[in-house]
Amino acid sequence: MIDIHSHILPFMDDGAADYDAALAMALDAHNDGITTVVATPHHANGVYMNPAPEIEAAVRVLNAKLQEAGNPLVVLPGQEIRIYGELLDDLERGQLLTLAGSRYILLEMPSSRVPRTMEETCHELVIQGMVPVIAHPERNAEVAADPSKLLRLIELGALGQVTAQSMAGVFGSKLQKLSLELCRQHAVHIIASDAHDSVHRPFGLSEAYGVVRRELGEESFDFFLQNARDILANNEINRVNSIQSNSKLHRLFGFFSRKG
Ligand SMILES: [Fe+2]
Repeated sequence: MIDIHSHILPFMDDGAADYDAALAMALDAHNDGITTVVATPHHANGVYMNPAPEIEAAVRVLNAKLQEAGNPLVVLPGQEIRIYGELLDDLERGQLLTLAGSRYILLEMPSSRVPRTMEETCHELVIQGMVPVIAHPERNAEVAADPSKLLRLIELGALGQVTAQSMAGVFGSKLQKLSLELCRQHAVHIIASDAHDSVHRPFGLSEAYGVVRRELGEESFDFFLQNARDILANNEINRVNSIQSNSKLHRLFGFFSRKG
């Protein structure tokens, strides 16, 4: 499996505290069946600033330590970028990182709301040939109350990335149900760990994929696995899988009438 969202790099944010913690996380990832992890430290979220060159240097050090430790896990550079005023300018200045050098860029919204500038930012990025990947929309209060706010961003060309622990039910059944519903609405295209440590916020990808297989079926399971691979390879990803697509109208009606 490939994980496109993690806080495995030490000394960057609220993720791994030091290299020992990062190596312990890397071992967990390997044992969970993960081969490649994109390190995505928080950037510009009001607390942490982690410009591209610092992340790239830390990734080099961690990969060397992994080799020394005999762990075949590969770590690639990325960034989890909070929506902020100078985002597009900083991208042009080379301060921002996409996911493993691809056209896919991981964006974080505040948990309480969808920023006013979100649609415009997504639109601008798409015009520049980038694909915004919206981190954990299921944990955004405005999206939870009204999923059409997310669907509008998806229509503009963005993708949704659900957190493995939300899907696995670790954050409660309400968040798990919402995560599954967003998958059925084609508002989620990728599952990633958002791992911060080995205990409270671990990788746990295999557990989440197990839930996908059980609740959404084999085709969805393959859809999410393949999309993570395609992001890494900078290929165009699949936006809709056919089982979901066949039941789209029925589900849209069912979901929104329940919400209303
Ligand atoms: Fe994150």
